[in-house]
Amino acid sequence: MKVLVVGGGGREHAIILKLKESPRVDKIYCAPGNAGISEDAECVNIKATDIDALMKFAKDEKIDFTVVGMDDPLVMGIVDKFEENGLKIFGPRKNAAIIEGSKAFSKELMKKYNIPTASYETFDNYNDAYLYIKESKFPIVIKADGLALGKGVLICGSLEDAEKGLKQIMVDKKFGESGDKVVIEEFLTGPEVSVLSFCDGTTVVPMVSAQDHKRAFDGDRGLNTGGMGTFSPSRIYTKEISDICMEKIFKPTVSALKKEGREFKGIIYFGLMITKDGPKVIEYNARFGDPETQVILPRLDFDLFDIFEACVDGKLDKLDIKWKDNAAACVILASGGYPESYEKGFTINGLDKCAKMDNIYIYHAGTAFKDCKFVTNGGRVLGVTGVGKNLDEAIKMAYKGVEFINFKNAHFRRDIGIKKV
Ligand code: AMP
Ligand code: GLY
Repeated sequence: MKVLVVGGGGREHAIILKLKESPRVDKIYCAPGNAGISEDAECVNIKATDIDALMKFAKDEKIDFTVVGMDDPLVMGIVDKFEENGLKIFGPRKNAAIIEGSKAFSKELMKKYNIPTASYETFDNYNDAYLYIKESKFPIVIKADGLALGKGVLICGSLEDAEKGLKQIMVDKKFGESGDKVVIEEFLTGPEVSVLSFCDGTTVVPMVSAQDHKRAFDGDRGLNTGGMGTFSPSRIYTKEISDICMEKIFKPTVSALKKEGREFKGIIYFGLMITKDGPKVIEYNARFGDPETQVILPRLDFDLFDIFEACVDGKLDKLDIKWKDNAAACVILASGGYPESYEKGFTINGLDKCAKMDNIYIYHAGTAFKDCKFVTNGGRVLGVTGVGKNLDEAIKMAYKGVEFINFKNAHFRRDIGIKKV
């Protein structure tokens, strides 16, 4: 089989390394990929959002199967276009990817089908939204409706904060059209868990749980980032909670989408908060998480290609997907300054030493080649995953890997996996 993976970050690198284990996969292409990915797949210089060019490439190269890692092409309808052209592709169609593309849509879906989530109101004009926050209790959460690179959620502690945030989203259009509508919702408290799941339109199979660390600095201080590290499994996601999630959240979501004529095939990422009233949905994503994938896929004890194919063919119920009884932790090495401005182009040392070590996996997120050497080329540069028989060992392995690697201004958190929840 010839497989094309769409995207170019650590998540796509993790997908590719797992697909390489499949005896059914002969050749992997990645568009656009990055320098590290180019050692495991043939990178093609096409942007993940250039759907027409991707389709032409898939036809010309006779690609048998395409896997979409990123959210933007899914929300834009890449799956619909590929299917219309007789190309096999893994991911939700546009009308199902909307669970990530529109927060207003996903909240309405949850309300209609009684799926536990924070109570909310939706507004499409500033004045009504302002009148609502004026009467609200604080803190309150304001969310831009559409995609906003993970930055469209504001937790506002006072009316002043909320007014400022609302203006930025709805009047100044900080996130463009994504802010034409806002969802204003109740502030929930409790630990957060990410549960990703495979879906074939009818059947949903949750993966092992994970937790991420979104803030830039130790102790959850600093700005929100795309993710500074992850670990799996979550210590708080017990069998009892997972059973509740399956019955009250996972199955109802997939069957609600089917009832609405929006059959979901692909990955649903359930962002959950375990509140004192039980688990509630904070957000849905329509794709693998980054960097959750970098701790989940190393634990998979099954052919990933077989799973992707079963999802597309509606045969997920025929598989008995197995996971390793171990743990994984991923530490992100970022460029100093990230998530604000940072410099690129610094030489990365030590990768060859890490490559020789068992139980350490290096996933490239933002790297390029310069004079045949790897250099930094993004905010998040590398994900270093350690695997061990329990979380303590996994965390130790990840930091052992981190010790070998260095580049100018490298920044990473030293407390990945060791928060108490
Ligand atoms: P999101 O981009 O939707 O993942 O939201 C970013 C973060 O905002 C989440 O991981 C939560 O920590 C926080 N958040 C979102 N919605 C709520 C809520 N209703 N109550 C409390 N925190 C929230
Ligand atoms: N790690 C969060 C996300 O992928 O959205």
